[in-house]
Amino acid sequence: MPYYQKRGEVPNKRHIQFKNESGKLYWEELISREGFSSIYSNVYHLNPPTTINALGDWMPLNIKAMTGPHQNRHIRTGELKSSGDAISARVPLLFNTNTFIHKAHVDKSMDVLYRNGHHDEVLFIHSGTGKFLSNFGQLPLKPGDYLVIPRGVIWQIKIDNPMKILVVESSGPVETPSRYRNRFGQLMEDAPYSERDIQTPEWMEPIQSTEPIDVLVRLNGGFQTYTHEHHPFDLVGWDGYYFPWIFNINDFMPITGKVHLPPPIHQTFQSPGFVICSFVPRLYDYHDEAIPAPYAHSNLDSDEVLYYVKGNFMSRKGIEPESMTIHPMGLPHGPQPGKIEASFGKKETIELAVMIDTFLPLHYAESLKDINDENYPYSWQES
Ligand SMILES: [Fe+2]
Repeated sequence: MPYYQKRGEVPNKRHIQFKNESGKLYWEELISREGFSSIYSNVYHLNPPTTINALGDWMPLNIKAMTGPHQNRHIRTGELKSSGDAISARVPLLFNTNTFIHKAHVDKSMDVLYRNGHHDEVLFIHSGTGKFLSNFGQLPLKPGDYLVIPRGVIWQIKIDNPMKILVVESSGPVETPSRYRNRFGQLMEDAPYSERDIQTPEWMEPIQSTEPIDVLVRLNGGFQTYTHEHHPFDLVGWDGYYFPWIFNINDFMPITGKVHLPPPIHQTFQSPGFVICSFVPRLYDYHDEAIPAPYAHSNLDSDEVLYYVKGNFMSRKGIEPESMTIHPMGLPHGPQPGKIEASFGKKETIELAVMIDTFLPLHYAESLKDINDENYPYSWQES
């Protein structure tokens, strides 16, 4: 996240001797992207972060792709069989070489610590509350939060009550859109959100444990457990531009127009493999002859995944909260019969939805079979 933050104590220069009151040296660690050439944070540990006592078994992750006709899809993710903690409850839905989309119905707090070694993660909290704990500090979690966890952060989620989470893993960094930022990196006056809307980690006192502790690491193709000699949440301080953060969808200030404006006005995040857009309650277009419903469109270079959170979904029939529609690239889609006329004269929408448009075609995981709406591909028929 490109702005400077500092927590706890750091020395007045990088890479110099930094000691406690009894003269014991703290351990500096640089956490950086693109080698040593992009954003980074310097963190200071009580103990060496490098001591591994044991390696667990490699646990492969084989997500099986479903075969079936190429089609527009509607899946009811609320009906998924999912339980466990914020990692074990994940059920893969969609994936390609750079993006994985999962749904997790979380009914347990995590005992293990977790690090994603190869992907940045965005966790959209649909419902429930809890607490995100990490080596950079803690963040409270509530409905509507997009929790952005860059790779390398070590974390766990403790729940206050059961949570439903939409998880997006990205092989590239997840960032605020470049066009929202000025040349200094600040979010611009006309961006739909500002730095005031971004929550950064609250300070946590360092943990000085004497017990070794396991960290579960997600890598391409599977998981590896490392037993660390020292608890990774042992920072006396950190500073830099690299840390987990939250933006809540309800803080997105929608941009509206005289006639229908396309989805880029809803863009919230960018990544090399996809964009994420937020559809939030907003006033409709104000031209006398405006058509608030969108026009049919063929998005030739994106698979469009739309996850419905709450409200009325103006252009779609048979959609409910936790529904997900998938409109693959090149296949025209748009409002179903009657929805265009029904939108005339409407002043506002109270819909809340999250869209993920990927730039490579998605594979469909086998888990979709049981929650697939067989009638959806034909739902544009006049009847
Ligand atoms: Fe679309």
